[in-house]
Amino acid sequence: MGDPDKSVYAQIGGEPAMDAAVKLFYEKVLADAHIARFFDQIDMDRQLKKQKRFLTMVTGGPNRYTGRSMRAAHRKLVEKQGLDDSHFDHVAMHLEATLTELGVPAELVSAVMEKAGGLRDDVLNR
Ligand code: HEM
Repeated sequence: MGDPDKSVYAQIGGEPAMDAAVKLFYEKVLADAHIARFFDQIDMDRQLKKQKRFLTMVTGGPNRYTGRSMRAAHRKLVEKQGLDDSHFDHVAMHLEATLTELGVPAELVSAVMEKAGGLRDDVLNR
């Protein structure tokens, strides 16, 4: 994927790109009536920070993620709020659209989407 000597994080544009991506991503998520309810009670400033650190880590940037595992973070949402594949699909779609809109090359978008897709079973606790 792109330059094999560089992390996907670096190739995307590092921290400024990640800041822009996380912000635009949550704008899309909160504007989507199929999934917005999951975030009703969530402190979005904290959520953006955690998501930025998490995506930084999974794309090979510096690891400053101190949050919960994907399984633990989403367990209640699955058990009490009915989080399922359809919600995951919407989130994945917004992530892909965000990266594409910000001009990330298609092969890097694919690399990120592969990593995100690999988390589906953990997020959905199965
Ligand atoms: C690849 C997919 C996903 C990734 C990488 C991801 C990532 C994260 C991260 C890093 C956190 C913070 C964990 C912590 O608080 O310690 C989190 C929490 C959360 N996620 Fe996700 N998530 C994904 C899918 C989803 C989906 C599909 C939904 C709902 C539509 C969702 C809703 C939430 C909510 C509501 C929280 C806050 C939970 C709480 O604070 O109790 N996530 N997620």
